[in-house]
Amino acid sequence: MTAPERAAALAELATRASACTDCRLAESRTHVVFGDGNPDADLMIVGEGPGQREDEQGLPFVGPSGNLLEQLLGEIGLTRPEVYIANVVKCRPPRNRDPRPDEIDACKGYLREQLRLVDPKVVLTLGNFSSKLLLRTETGITRLRGTAYEWWGRYLVPTFHPAAALRGSARVLEEMRVDLGIVRAVIDGNLPGMRSDGPDAAREVAPEPDPEQLDLFR
Ligand code: URA
Repeated sequence: MTAPERAAALAELATRASACTDCRLAESRTHVVFGDGNPDADLMIVGEGPGQREDEQGLPFVGPSGNLLEQLLGEIGLTRPEVYIANVVKCRPPRNRDPRPDEIDACKGYLREQLRLVDPKVVLTLGNFSSKLLLRTETGITRLRGTAYEWWGRYLVPTFHPAAALRGSARVLEEMRVDLGIVRAVIDGNLPGMRSDGPDAAREVAPEPDPEQLDLFR
């Protein structure tokens, strides 16, 4: 698929999502926060769900967490427009509660399609919620982080949610920097243990899963 075709398919999906009423979150949202960024990105970032600012503006990670995320991306030589950013659920859960299983179920087709269309080399999951969900594990982020996992023919790097770093722990921020360094290494094909010719070769060995078969969350 060419870059303009991906962009068009994502735009069509965003239009569909903007009218979505498949779960109760539709009742309280201001805007659907579908996703934002480069349809041809090497890096796709997956958060949990929109907060208040995101709900108001219709864009992911526009509050303080987004500012820190942009700073950390800058430190590995990436700008926000170069990456693609999405959330597990596209509508804000009331009072920022965790999304419920039926809400995730109703929404996961959008994330699946975003992953298929953007087809990034590496997925960065932010925080316990998206990391545990996409890696299908009960292990917490503190133990999960610090490595790249082979995941559906690409790599997944779990790290803390920027909100955790903003709550004040210098250690969390330093560990996020380490994880972003792993993302940079994956993009560059320099990850220790990675085939010397990089993630594209890994993709050949582990072909794209059939989207019909792919259930990211079980
Ligand atoms: N936190 C998230 O998980 N996603 C956003 O878009 C903003 C804050």
